[in-house]
Amino acid sequence: MKRWLSMIMMLTLLLFSSDFAFSQAPKPPAKSPELINLGKKLYDQNCSSCHGPKGDGKTPLGNALKPPPRDFNIPLNQWTHSKGDLKKVFDVITKGIPNTSMVKWDQLSEQERWALTYYVVGFSTPTPPPKKKK
Ligand code: HEC
Repeated sequence: MKRWLSMIMMLTLLLFSSDFAFSQAPKPPAKSPELINLGKKLYDQNCSSCHGPKGDGKTPLGNALKPPPRDFNIPLNQWTHSKGDLKKVFDVITKGIPNTSMVKWDQLSEQERWALTYYVVGFSTPTPPPKKKK
């Protein structure tokens, strides 16, 4: 009986502390098929001219840019600015990258920026990268 009580106490504590940790930063919406679809729509409208419909950055515009747009078809932990961190991908989309053609997209809602985050991260390959063909 006593053991049960302490177990329950532990669990409650755990629950509360994780809640606390999450409340520090704006909580990302849960990944869902709807969100990914929204991400795809926004990406095709706003991002694919530079980053390419497949996220490889090989577009006429992308090729002309210095620095070139990120090729998203590499392992996420090799992304120069976000290094595998979803929140940083979100931040890049929100704030842009100074002195590059990657502008900020803060006119989009937080929900829309998370949708884009999940969508572009979906282009990344596991390590080592098998070349995706489609
Ligand atoms: C006008 C061209 C252009 C458009 C449009 C554009 N980007 Fe970029 N993007 C860039 C360039 C250039 C870089 C790389 C800058 C660098 O390496 O410093 C970049 C980098 C990024 C990165 C950084 C990845 C990393 O961690 O290294 C993300 C994420 C990103 N873009 C997402 C987006 C999204 C989402 C959109 C659409 C809402 C978008 N971009 C639209 C040019 C563009």
